[in-house]
Amino acid sequence: MDTPCLVLDLDAFEHNLRSMQDWADRWDVALRPHAKAHKCPEVALRQAAAGARGICVQKVSEALPFVAAGIRDIHISNEVVGAAKLDLLAALARQARISVCVDHVDNVADLSRAASRHGARIDVLVELDVGQGRCGVSSPTAALELARRIESLPGLRFAGLQAYHGSLQHRRGHAERAAACRETAARAKECARILAEHDYACPIVTGSGTGTAEFDAPGGVYTELQAGTYAFMDGDYGDNEWAGELRLRNSLFLLSTVMSTPSADRIVLDAGLKSTTIECGLPRLYRQPGLSYVAANDEHGVVRVAAGTATPALGSKLLLVPSHCDPTMNLHDTLVALRGGVVEGIWPIAARGLSR
Ligand SMILES: Cc1ncc(COP(=O)(O)O)c(C=O)c1O
Repeated sequence: MDTPCLVLDLDAFEHNLRSMQDWADRWDVALRPHAKAHKCPEVALRQAAAGARGICVQKVSEALPFVAAGIRDIHISNEVVGAAKLDLLAALARQARISVCVDHVDNVADLSRAASRHGARIDVLVELDVGQGRCGVSSPTAALELARRIESLPGLRFAGLQAYHGSLQHRRGHAERAAACRETAARAKECARILAEHDYACPIVTGSGTGTAEFDAPGGVYTELQAGTYAFMDGDYGDNEWAGELRLRNSLFLLSTVMSTPSADRIVLDAGLKSTTIECGLPRLYRQPGLSYVAANDEHGVVRVAAGTATPALGSKLLLVPSHCDPTMNLHDTLVALRGGVVEGIWPIAARGLSR
């Protein structure tokens, strides 16, 4: 394998798929893994084979390679605005069950027109802002108005609520994360209750992620978990406190080569910003005590060698754990799937760059 290249430890990956699926099954909630974490149809097919209900994507174009690979149930966990995107969404809804989020009445009308143009039927979820401060309506009254509008227009069906809270995922302390999840779930529950009171029952309440699935699955509010990173894990999630039953392993690594050994205390790897992103911190050396990745340039990764640690030889290969798997996957064309050091497959990251 030439470097830098992304590699997947299949044993750890399969352990992660089984662990999250078992967790969802145990609490009788569906797992709908977020494919924005991997952008790789081979991964989605394995998640489906393990029992996932379907997948999430964040952008309409991102859905294309997954539909082509045979995934037939896709939730776009985001608002979709603009004629070209809505046309693509409605066209896809002729080939697969597609659901999407809304938080504005004008968008509902545009969605309905696109559905009518294509003779499609689209499931629509109202996005509720449960504290993240991103998209979503902030009150049950606004959610109710949208639900009414959805049900009144052709080609659309009200399917429930999305209540995702991204900033809770990396709240480090286990107990602190658990308490915050209870608050979030209470807001989603209250909104669903008010909708049901007005005859808009929510068959789906979707949300959650790798950091909160542990608390959201047993809570009795969410019907679906959207965890994505759980399949790989990454440096940022590695910094969370994992004190519960869900134990996930690092399965995704960036293989790199030592391309320079300027001094006993410094080596340089061939993996920099063009192969791993650093918005969640620098990548970490995997199981290499005494070696710390300290600076990422475009094509160079500078590693400090602690006193008393042997300096890795020129040409040797080292594994890095990316700090944030989603944008790192988006930098690569392929994922090399390994078991016990043997290549079992080279999987295209087919949705790479599909961000429209
Ligand atoms: C709407 C939505 N759902 C689910 C996720 C999955 O989160 P994670 O990869 O942390 O499990 C994300 C991630 O940003 C998201 O934006």
